[in-house]
Amino acid sequence: MSKKVLITGATSGIGRSLTYRLAEDGYDLYVVGRSNEKLAELKTDIEQRFKQRCVCYCVDLNKSEEVKSFLVNELQVDILIHCAGIGKVGDFNILSIEEEEEILQVNVQASMLLLKTFAQRFVAQDYGVIAVICSTAAFYPHPFMNTYASSKAFLYHYSLGLGEEVRKYSKQVKVIAVSPGPTSTAFFEPKTKEKMVRSQTETHFEMSAEQVGKGIANALFSNRSAVTIGRRNQLMTVVLRCLPLKLRIKVVGKYIAKGV
Ligand SMILES: NC(=O)c1ccc[n+]([C@@H]2O[C@H](COP(=O)([O-])OP(=O)(O)OC[C@H]3O[C@@H](n4cnc5c(N)ncnc54)[C@H](OP(=O)(O)O)[C@@H]3O)[C@@H](O)[C@H]2O)c1
Repeated sequence: MSKKVLITGATSGIGRSLTYRLAEDGYDLYVVGRSNEKLAELKTDIEQRFKQRCVCYCVDLNKSEEVKSFLVNELQVDILIHCAGIGKVGDFNILSIEEEEEILQVNVQASMLLLKTFAQRFVAQDYGVIAVICSTAAFYPHPFMNTYASSKAFLYHYSLGLGEEVRKYSKQVKVIAVSPGPTSTAFFEPKTKEKMVRSQTETHFEMSAEQVGKGIANALFSNRSAVTIGRRNQLMTVVLRCLPLKLRIKVVGKYIAKGV
C-alpha cells in the first residue's frame, strides 16, 4: 500500500518540486495550498502524469479559523512535510506591522498548531515522520530579514524540542528540522529578487528547488533530528559559527541589505 504524505506549500517552489518527486516515488499525496486554482492545476497534472492519488486542501495559514477547521478534519497520513512559509526583506521601519504579523501567523502560530496536532496523531498511530522546512536563516540573527529569521529560529527550536518530547511516547515517530539555504523560487518578491540579481547576492549561492526537493526527500529516511541541505550551506554555517556573534550579525546584515 502507498504511503500517505501531507505537504503544505505544495503549490510553489520547494514544496511543489518535492510533491512531484514524491509522486514519482509512488506516495499518495495530500496537498495544502491557499489557491484553489493552483491546487486544481497541480492535482490534474500529478494524477495524469503519475496516476497517483492527489487530494487537495485549500487553507490560508494566515487565517487561524481556516487552520483550526482544517485540523478538525481527522486526516491520517504517514508523513507530514510542512513547507509553507513566507518571508520579507526590509527593516523594522520599512515593513508594516501587518506584514510582520503575517510572517508570525504563518511561520509560527499556524506551524505550531499543525505540528502539535500531527505529533499527537502520529503518537496515537505509533508511526509517522514530520519534516519541518526551516532555513539556515534560523541559525543566527538576520538584520533586514529579522522577523523571518526569528520565526524560522522558533520553528527550528520547536521542531527539535518536539522531536525529543515525542520520543517519550513513541520510538516510531520522528521529527526532522530540515534547513535549506538560498533557493531559486518565488519566495522573494520580484523587486527584491531584481536587486539581489543586480548585486549578485542571493542568486550567487542559490540551489534549485529540484535539488532542495531531492535533499528533503532523502532527509525523510535520516535518523538525524536536524538536516542542512547542500554542502555549501553546511560549510557556510560552520564558517559563520566560527565568527564572534557581533561580526556574524554584521556580515549577514551587510549581505541581506543589498536586497532592501
Ligand atoms: N527560497 C529560499 O531561499 C528558502 C531558503 C530557506 C528556506 N526556505 C523555506 O522553504 C519553504 C518554501 O519556500 P519556497 O522558497 O518554496 O517559496 P515559495 O515558492 O514562495 O512557496 C511557498 C509556499 O507556501 C505557500 N504559502 C505561503 N503563504 C501561505 C498561506 N498564508 N497559506 C497557505 N500556504 C501559503 C505558498 O502558496 P502560494 O503558491 O499560494 O503562494 C507556496 O506554496 C518556506 O518555508 C521557506 O521559508 C526558502
